[in-house]
Amino acid sequence: MKNIAILCSGGDVSGMNPALKHFVEYSIEKGLQPYFVYNGFEGLIDNKIVAVSYCDVSGIINRGGTKIGSARSQRFLQEKYRKIAKENLDKHNIDKLLVLGGDGSFRGIEVFHKETGISFAGVPSTIDNDITGTDYCLGVDTALGIINCSLDAIRDTASSFSRAFVVEVMGNHCGYLALVSALTSGAELCLIPEKVSDLKKFEKKFNHEKENGRKYFIAVIAEGISQSADEISQWFEKNIGIESRVTILGHIQRGGNPSTRDRLMAYRFITEAIDGLLLGNNDAVICYNDGNFNLKSIDYITKTTYQLDANFLKLAKNII
Ligand code: F6P
Repeated sequence: MKNIAILCSGGDVSGMNPALKHFVEYSIEKGLQPYFVYNGFEGLIDNKIVAVSYCDVSGIINRGGTKIGSARSQRFLQEKYRKIAKENLDKHNIDKLLVLGGDGSFRGIEVFHKETGISFAGVPSTIDNDITGTDYCLGVDTALGIINCSLDAIRDTASSFSRAFVVEVMGNHCGYLALVSALTSGAELCLIPEKVSDLKKFEKKFNHEKENGRKYFIAVIAEGISQSADEISQWFEKNIGIESRVTILGHIQRGGNPSTRDRLMAYRFITEAIDGLLLGNNDAVICYNDGNFNLKSIDYITKTTYQLDANFLKLAKNII
């Protein structure tokens, strides 16, 4: 029997547990022995590599986070630890590895692959949705659901109290979460790192709207912009003359039960990843574009800079 392993690296996402479940079940279906690597690349170094079966994934499909833990490994950046990681994989006769993670994790596995020849498949998994070459990363739908639920709740109090609310969302250096949640929650303003917004324009617009009866404002800002949420809040108080409050959503965006879409996408990403490895693709990232899956080389993924979808930017032109 051939052996195959999976690990989760970087920020966890809701969708990783359904992915683990399908990984175990689909590997067995394909005649492979599945292994879990605990705590990302750290587990490779520490030999936290365990053979698993159906019972290890029962009851996890509806749970956020990841049963096998995740980490951002500093040691894996050093060659001497990557050598130990390879020795540990060899001890278990594992030559195929699935990596669920974001761009940092993919850069790590690219180096490891080049040094050791280990075959891997990358499954884009980050709420930031900032991986080149794929329209969708696992976990994004659940994170957006949580953000929109929070924005709906904030709207209730903002409208009752006639206040402005500045809501900061995650995304690292990418404005995707802010842009999509602002659009789909009806926010008045959205600030993202990809575009320097003209606040003078909004000052005129918002004051005009206020004079014409607008009672509250919601601004969604990405954590990666140069101004702080407090600065934007003060801008509302000083320039628009409205009381303002700040809400930083923080890590609640990373949790919660995986949405139906993320459960389904987890299954589909894992199927493509295992099929790809069995067909001999040994350095691919599984990408999803226009409803179809395709495999792209890790070289392309790590060397190309992510761009926000121009259609979303166009749709949001009045709020950015
Ligand atoms: O990459 C996912 C992410 O949640 C980013 O949106 C955020 O900037 C970062 O991770 C937070 O990292 P940590 O959990 O280490 O604080």
